[in-house]
Amino acid sequence: MLKRTSNNNPVSFTFEGETIPAQSGDSVASAMLAHGTQALRVSTRRKAQRGPYCMMGACYECLVEIDGKTVQSCMTTATDGLQVSRVNHEDV
Ligand code: FES
Repeated sequence: MLKRTSNNNPVSFTFEGETIPAQSGDSVASAMLAHGTQALRVSTRRKAQRGPYCMMGACYECLVEIDGKTVQSCMTTATDGLQVSRVNHEDV
């Protein structure tokens, strides 16, 4: 597990109601991985846990829902107060 070495500009958001600490400028995906949360969604057919893979917007394995919109968490900057949840696959 990754450990943070500095805490110069902390922010936090929630994922499924759990508070996730981050640093200003972190992506939502990197903050989740640093927190130890790897499974951000469940695959549609096999119901397998999926999480960030490429960290550059190519694989779409990191989809989450923020403010009612499905977004790539690796391409979304973590900011204070974001409410992040798992994607409802009925909508994707
Ligand atoms: S981790 Fe691949 S698109 Fe986000």
